[in-house]
Amino acid sequence: MKCGLKINSKSEKLRTQMIKKNIFIISLITFSLLSCNTKEKSKTSENSKEDPVKETVAADSKGYALMKQKCFICHFERPDPAKRNQMIAPPMLRVQEHYKPSYSDKESFVKAVMAYINNPSQEKTLMPGTIKKFNIMPRVIYDQTELKLIVETLYELDFGSMPKMHMKMGNGLSLNNGQKWKLTPASMEQVQTIIKKLNSFHSSNIADYNQLGKDIFDDAKLILLDKDYTGDLFDQIHFFFSGIEDNMHALIATKSIDVANKQVIIIINEFDNFNKYFE
Ligand code: HEC
Repeated sequence: MKCGLKINSKSEKLRTQMIKKNIFIISLITFSLLSCNTKEKSKTSENSKEDPVKETVAADSKGYALMKQKCFICHFERPDPAKRNQMIAPPMLRVQEHYKPSYSDKESFVKAVMAYINNPSQEKTLMPGTIKKFNIMPRVIYDQTELKLIVETLYELDFGSMPKMHMKMGNGLSLNNGQKWKLTPASMEQVQTIIKKLNSFHSSNIADYNQLGKDIFDDAKLILLDKDYTGDLFDQIHFFFSGIEDNMHALIATKSIDVANKQVIIIINEFDNFNKYFE
């Protein structure tokens, strides 16, 4: 518990250091978490007594106390525009938002999130934009029983209705000094693949619609993770895909053909815009 407390009291400092994107520091934290992990196990309840949780949601659960202790070092609970430039990882609410559409039942959600945390990879990510922005989450070995509690809490947490902060099309998307942004031939081909999949889609089976959503998300992911894209160019690509993110999530999750059809139409329309800004 000494160790856990140490992390908590130093978390502000750690955060500041990490904002500088010092990878060395990240590995230090990872290492210190690793070495703390076993020592603090038996003392967590004591620790949460000394550090009472003020939040209302699931505030008294052990999972929440653990999440606070182990995850909020890097993750904010919710987005906080005032602290935008202190962010070193996506807010937990956003993590939940990205995983629930693909994993709507608790069991598959817990399995997928735990698999990611135990071995973060580009292959598994549902948040490619954050990997580009913050680098991949450091691999930390957690006690699996504790981790399960944390992730179950993440599934159950009711973050209330937060304003959507996703940037919509047109809001931020602009030309490069009057010219279209240049993407690699591979990315342009990837986009054509997505458009083709959308246009040639014919099915009346909702599972096929959900799969289509997953497929185009995976295609989009490859573009977002491309190392060629940095700075303004990456921001523009990110703006575009953030604009259709909610639609892709809806397509992945919906049980209604009607809703799915609407999402497909919206996404096709947005891709018409793609060609106005990128080539
Ligand atoms: C040392 C900092 C750090 C700690 C501690 C940390 N994370 Fe992360 N996490 C990150 C960063 C950075 C990202 C964004 C990059 C990424 O997605 O890999 C991230 C992303 C994630 C994602 C999104 C995965 C995706 O699809 O890309 C999940 C889920 C997650 N964290 C869960 C947790 C949980 C639960 C805990 C606590 C047990 C935790 N994290 C602790 C830094 C951290």
